[in-house]
Parts: sequence; C-alpha cells; structure tokens
Amino acid sequence: MAPLDAADWLLRRPYRELRALPPNRFRIRVGVGNRLLANAVHYRTFATNFWLDAFASGVAGPGSDILDIGCGCGRFALTLREFRYHGRRFSGHYTGIDVDAEMLAWCRRHFPADRFSFLEVDAANTAYRPDGRENQEQVRFAAQDQSQDLVLANSLFTHLLADAAIAYVREAARVLRPGGCLQLSALRIEDVHEAKAPGMRDSRWSFEHRVGEAYVEDPRVPEAAVAYEHRYLKGILRDAGFGPIETLPTDTHAIYRATKPAVVVSVVTTRQPAATVTPAE
Ligand SMILES: C[S@@+](CC[C@H](N)C(=O)[O-])C[C@H]1O[C@@H](n2cnc3c(N)ncnc32)[C@H](O)[C@@H]1O
Repeated sequence: MAPLDAADWLLRRPYRELRALPPNRFRIRVGVGNRLLANAVHYRTFATNFWLDAFASGVAGPGSDILDIGCGCGRFALTLREFRYHGRRFSGHYTGIDVDAEMLAWCRRHFPADRFSFLEVDAANTAYRPDGRENQEQVRFAAQDQSQDLVLANSLFTHLLADAAIAYVREAARVLRPGGCLQLSALRIEDVHEAKAPGMRDSRWSFEHRVGEAYVEDPRVPEAAVAYEHRYLKGILRDAGFGPIETLPTDTHAIYRATKPAVVVSVVTTRQPAATVTPAE
C-alpha cells in the first residue's frame, strides 16, 4: 500500500481540493471499484451526488442530525464539512460509527469536533474486525432514542450477516425521529443473477454460498461480501416498523430508503370528529 499512497500523494499534490482526502489505502479499503490509483475525484463525486439527491429529495438538509453507520474514512462527512454557499453551511451534527479504529482516528484528526463525532464499535466482523469483542447483534448505537433525522449506511449491509442486519435496522429505527429516514445500500441476489443473463454486463460476484438468509461470496470470510433477496431486505425493514419503503433503481448497489412513520395521535372531542395530528418535533 505504501507505493500506492506515495503515487497518489504526488498525483494530488497540485490540487488543493484533493489534498483534504484520506490516504489512498483508506479509500481503497472503503471501496473505489477497480480504481486503485486515480480514484480521488470519483471518491469525492460519489459523496457529493449522494448529498445532492438527499437534499433534493428532502431526506436531509443542512441542519440535519445524521448518523452514518459504517462511516469508514468519512467519505460522506467530507462533503458536509466543505459545504459552503454564501453563508450557508452544514449546521447539524454528523456522527460516524465504525469498527475500524485506524480510519476513525484519522477522521477525528481531520474533522471539527463541534459538528462531527466519530465513534468506535468494538464488534466482531470477519472482514473488518475479526478480533472484535462484542457480537454485532448486541451493538447499541451511541445515540439517544429519536435523535436523528437520517441514518445512512453505504455499503455496510454488504458486510453484515442476517442477525446483525436485523439488529442494525432495529437500532436505526430506535434512533430516528418520527418521519426520519434510513437509507442503506445493499447487494441483491436478483441483480447478480440478472447481470449474468445473456447480453448483460456480467457481475463480478457469484454468491454461491449461503449462511442463513445471506448469500456470501467466500464462506471462509462470510462478511467480505454479502447479498440478500429483495423480499428479505424489505421484510426486515418492515418488521422494524419502517414504512413507506422506497427503492431507487440499482446501479452497482440497490438503495433502500425507509421512512420511520410519524406518530399518529387521534384526538377525540365531543364536538368534533377524530382528527389526526403529527406532533411537531
Ligand atoms: C465498504 S466500507 C464503506 C465505508 C463508507 N460507508 C463509505 O461508503 O465510504 C464498509 C465499512 O463498514 C465498516 N463496518 C463493518 N462492520 C461494521 C459493523 N458491524 N459496525 C460498524 N461498521 C462496520 C467497515 O469498517 C467499513 O468502514
């Protein structure tokens, strides 16, 4: 990795905008496809597009409280930190959680602590933290009940087996405010099979092995890459109380955008019919 880091450093040197990025070995660790070297612009654009869509569709805004589960080296925090437009800036709070202590330490050194927190989860994941002491199923996010507007999970559920996936979806439901949204990306077995049909661009995955409900690429390191059936993903979101659940057209991953229902309170008086109100937060 050292030569890749060094070559990347040289490539980025002339561009002030690219100097703020984490080292290449971290970017490769969180996934930049097959771009082992020239990935700096792609790394930035990917997160910028995410926030453009999130702000445009109203699932988040510049004042939102955001929890990024499996935050890696802060790809999504970077856009928020740099958002400046004629006096407007990100004024909410971003919390990133991850099992990778090295990437979290880098993030803590590079993001202002008043608006950005990075918290370590000591949970065992065969791909990312084999020596973790906690079961992923028992992880409790370090956030109060109903304290977040958006929980995002980019390419985390592609590394969780079923029990952990269920537990994380439930935790997301707990920490979201009513009306808040969980947006996660996932690999779906239907998309993998479709990509193998004649005339289609083949998928690099086979997912021939099963561990419970999960389809895994490598049974020796099951959490290296995990796919699920669409009905299963939708089912665990519904069981955790989410609805409506929107899916965006699949690119490399499928996107699930699940809303926590607003609390419905029926107010009955003797003179008026029952009314439905949504309490303001
Ligand atoms: C493919 S990377 C994606 C990182 C980041 N979301 C991004 O898109 O840049 C998956 C991340 O999930 C983290 N991770 C794996 N298991 C986890 C767990 N149980 N809890 C929290 N984070 C986890 C890994 O350390 C890694 O940073």
